Amino acid sequence: MASDPILKLNNIEVRYHEVILVLKGVSIEVPRGAIVALLGANGAGKSTTLKAISGLLNHEDGEVTDGSIEFEGKRIDKQSAEHISRSGIVQVIEGRRVFEHLTVEQNLKVGAHLLTKKSGKTIKEGLEMVYHYFPRLRQKRNETAGFISGGEQQMTVVGRALMTSPKLILLDEPSMGLAPMLIHEIFNIVTKLNTEQQISILLVEQNAKLALNVAPHAYVMENGRIVMDDTSERLRENPDIKDFYLGLTDKGSRKSFREVKHYKRRKRWLT
Ligand SMILES: Nc1ncnc2c1ncn2[C@@H]1O[C@H](COP(=O)(O)OP(=O)(O)O)[C@@H](O)[C@H]1O
Ligand SMILES: [Mg+2]
Repeated sequence: MASDPILKLNNIEVRYHEVILVLKGVSIEVPRGAIVALLGANGAGKSTTLKAISGLLNHEDGEVTDGSIEFEGKRIDKQSAEHISRSGIVQVIEGRRVFEHLTVEQNLKVGAHLLTKKSGKTIKEGLEMVYHYFPRLRQKRNETAGFISGGEQQMTVVGRALMTSPKLILLDEPSMGLAPMLIHEIFNIVTKLNTEQQISILLVEQNAKLALNVAPHAYVMENGRIVMDDTSERLRENPDIKDFYLGLTDKGSRKSFREVKHYKRRKRWLT
């Protein structure tokens, strides 16, 4: 892909508890300043991929057992999560985990310990930047995070990630369970963060349509392997993507088990 990727996964293998092999040789590149999407069904290994990058895998007794991960040309696959976050990677984990008993603003400040060190910004300046991108959070700044809406919680966790002054955000299923209007709003902001703050983004989504609109390039993961990667434009036209991720063909969005079997057989021929 690009000549200067900010992130490079070289054929990584990931195991949980030393025996459960979940990623079976995954290679992904994120060019500097790009948004790249990682698509795939539930259980494919998307969140595991993000955790391998951020180092959070270690907290779940998971390990990169083969291959390597490079961030800005340096190996990070043996580094601690703390070291990795200091170098500029932040993961927004799925399920929008806010600190429910803290206010929105207190939640944002949780991310701020890295801000001053890395960007020279004060916490006040950091908060102003978050409120600039998420005006709703300014309104809700003193509310208890457990009581704001799901969309606002998602904004809060993305805002908290911003407070670490990241170069790369790993964003795990931000659209999950949100109303279309809010999804639209959040994705608009993510696009702005990418273009205005030059933050690179690796976006995991089950909602392929959405992801292909936001990211110019995407990877498709099945069962711990990358089975396709291409420009979003071409992926949108790909018959398998249309059938199984976009639900656009005459087969409709509900595929029968037989069709899925057929697809798998055909793919085996192709690979
Ligand atoms: N902590 C863990 N221990 C053991 N297996 C896990 C753990 N986390 C995830 N897995 C397994 O790894 C596979 C991929 O999970 P995950 O990365 O969460 O997929 P996705 O995010 O694509 O839905 C699943 O089969 C899941 O059961
Ligand atoms: Mg997941």
